[in-house]
Amino acid sequence: MEAISVETNEGGEKIENSKQVENIPLRPGLEGVPVTQSSICDIDGNKGILQYRGYPISELSANSSFLETTYLLIWGELPNSQQLHDFQEEVQMHRRLSFRIIDMLKCFPESGHPMDALQSSAASLGLFYSKRVIDNPQYIYDSVIRLIAKIPTMVAAFELIRKGHDPIRPRDDLEYASNFLYMLTEKEPDPLAARVFDKCLILHAEHSLNASTFSARVTASTLTDPYAVIASAVGTLGGPLHGGANEDVIAMLEEIGTPENAGNYLDNAIKRKSKIMGFGHREYRVKDPRACVLQKFAEELFAKFGKDEMYEIAKRLEEEAINRLGPKGIYPNVDFYSGLVYRKLGISRDLFTPIFAISRVAGWLAHWREQLSANRIFRPTQIYTGKKIREWEPLEGR
Ligand code: CMC
Repeated sequence: MEAISVETNEGGEKIENSKQVENIPLRPGLEGVPVTQSSICDIDGNKGILQYRGYPISELSANSSFLETTYLLIWGELPNSQQLHDFQEEVQMHRRLSFRIIDMLKCFPESGHPMDALQSSAASLGLFYSKRVIDNPQYIYDSVIRLIAKIPTMVAAFELIRKGHDPIRPRDDLEYASNFLYMLTEKEPDPLAARVFDKCLILHAEHSLNASTFSARVTASTLTDPYAVIASAVGTLGGPLHGGANEDVIAMLEEIGTPENAGNYLDNAIKRKSKIMGFGHREYRVKDPRACVLQKFAEELFAKFGKDEMYEIAKRLEEEAINRLGPKGIYPNVDFYSGLVYRKLGISRDLFTPIFAISRVAGWLAHWREQLSANRIFRPTQIYTGKKIREWEPLEGR
């Protein structure tokens, strides 16, 4: 990759050694720079293969549950039936929130974005569980259980509070996905809806060293508490170039309006050099394997609950984009179809990214553990382009 050439600084001074530091070229966005070793997730972006701990995502989404996949990601192996039972039971026992967290959520402005509410409430767990003994396996286990259990309850509680309702308690007889949908919508979900939602959680659970996972690992490398690790990752996930794209996809499909407009929309966007939301990925040069699975789930939902008119627009956009963007390796990513699935489940648009976060907590925690197992604090370097040392100017002379 070409190094960036910066010849002069803002004061017009020549910058020595502007292209590289000790023969290391500048890599904007750290593209292609390995910064850690990891055994959690592997991606083959040319073949469209994604695997967690060696298991292809197609196998996991067909056969596993989100909690089983979470166990696999965090502890490295699939659980046996006793381990799975214990894990599910522990998570179920810790779903409830302290009344103080509920009170705190009630103080948040209801017009605020649910991702901001989630970031703040995840960080607040550090206040409630402030003992920080990250070299103690029991502390690590307890923190994992708490975060996997409580994050969905926080998202659902904020949703009900902002609608003016009281949050409802988790139901012990419901599984993870059903219970979340129940807490969110105040009614027991249809079994197909719950099954598809659980599969969506599997698909979003991990994706190697993306921006939010890198953020989690950087924060973890300082040996802070896991709640700060997750809060920093939630903040990073929210941006429209990362997890926030799933909201923008729906806005884009609304703007396109009809399948016939898809081609024109693409031409104009390409001319303006603006990004097509839900397309492109740093890792993939083919269609994101998660988008392929999600599209099938979307179709299953439409077959049972009726078609979504936006789906026809999305399909046409994808077809029209093949000739225009395909040669550059730009195809639909995971966010292109996830919003359509959540829309069909009756979920508000601004909850799409918090739902992504509920799932990605599994991957972030796996990376937290892995970072701690061979930690070195992240401290990259930079190429300084500012002014050279200069003399202090007294206020009256400026
Ligand atoms: N629409 C049109 N052109 C695109 C797109 C797109 N969605 N994505 C990349 N390109 C073009 C870009 O204009 C550039 O072209 P050129 O070389 O002619 O200047 C080239 O492809 C490389 O783009 P880039 O932005 O340098 O690539 P990146 O690897 O830095 O960005 C990305 C990856 C995901 C940020 C980008 O594809 C994008 O902004 N996509 C839209 C937002 C989106 O859907 N994000 C969700 C990502 S998947 C979920 C997740 O992991 O968070």
